[in-house]
Amino acid sequence: MRAVRIHEYGAPDTLQVEEVPIPQPGPGQVLIRTEAISVGFAQTQMRRNIFPAPMWRPEFPIVLGGDVIGRVAAVGPDAPGVGVGDRIGAFTLHGAYADYVVVDAATLVSVPEGLDAAVATAIPSPGPIAAGTLATAALRPGESVLVHAAAGGIGHLAVQLAKRAGAGLVIATAGAPGKREFARSIGADVVVDYRQESWAETVRETAGDRGVDVILDSVGGEVLRQGVQLLGPFGRLVFYGSAGGGLDVPRISPMELIGMKFLTGFALSQWRAARHADYLRHHGVLAGALAEGSITHAIHATLPLERVAEAHRMIEERSHIGRIVLLTEATV
Ligand SMILES: NC(=O)c1ccc[n+]([C@@H]2O[C@H](COP(=O)([O-])OP(=O)(O)OC[C@H]3O[C@@H](n4cnc5c(N)ncnc54)[C@H](OP(=O)(O)O)[C@@H]3O)[C@@H](O)[C@H]2O)c1
Repeated sequence: MRAVRIHEYGAPDTLQVEEVPIPQPGPGQVLIRTEAISVGFAQTQMRRNIFPAPMWRPEFPIVLGGDVIGRVAAVGPDAPGVGVGDRIGAFTLHGAYADYVVVDAATLVSVPEGLDAAVATAIPSPGPIAAGTLATAALRPGESVLVHAAAGGIGHLAVQLAKRAGAGLVIATAGAPGKREFARSIGADVVVDYRQESWAETVRETAGDRGVDVILDSVGGEVLRQGVQLLGPFGRLVFYGSAGGGLDVPRISPMELIGMKFLTGFALSQWRAARHADYLRHHGVLAGALAEGSITHAIHATLPLERVAEAHRMIEERSHIGRIVLLTEATV
């Protein structure tokens, strides 16, 4: 089978398509024949070795992870509840950029038969992250929500889910006019260019005296620091990515939170493990919404697996809207 491997950290060209043996599932695992593999911002950070999460400690050669959609090709011992041929999805930190991947059966999610494989890549992680950050913030109807990087793969799902949950005001930030136009088209009430120095002032004026109730921050750095200032009393900021700050995460003093402000992190792997029933419930709702078309998963581009470096370049150029997806020979 083909696997995209890196033997050193670096530029997109470090991603090499190589022939390797098909892995075999061990106890509690399944082998998936992949159809669609999503490429996320986090994998560009992993490739450059600036991924901020401590749970990712790989050894070379590395096959990067991601969301995969495919069918079960083989079932290992003690992997109940799943059969060869089942259409499933999984989010894995390792091994996704390949024709076959082995994952723990416990992490599988079901995927509706008729749903396009690229669109379905929202189901394992992007949708649950969008839903999970809103659940972590305990968003209540009528509240205001500020979604950063709102035209991104996760951000655009968060905008739509916030509206569905009854948010009174959704403010979306994005770095290019086309992205802001897109954010408006999927339901954002107000769009803001956070590349302008005055962006926080614009948000403050929009939210009014009450301040912002909920902020979903995947950018970090200065955006995170200013976000804390924008929160009103009982406002909640959920930090779940550091696209703008990289490893340079600002120090927030508890004194900055003393006006009844809440700052928390979100990691899908932790949420999935600690609140598994919630994760599965949100997955079910999202899969249904995608299948009936009431939530849009925007696909910026689909590319064959071997063009993975191009996908990484698009993400680093910040030129994409929604998700970039790799397709294998099972789909193309
Ligand atoms: N916590 C978790 O469990 C978890 C899991 C997976 C991913 N994540 C995080 O979730 C976030 C969104 O992931 P995604 O795959 O959907 O990515 P994405 O939003 O499609 O792409 C990242 C976006 O971040 C924005 N950005 C802001 N500052 C940037 C900078 N200095 N350089 C590059 N981009 C910048 C860009 O949008 P503009 O051009 O509009 O600024 C860019 O398009 C990422 O931070 C990722 O690391 C978290």
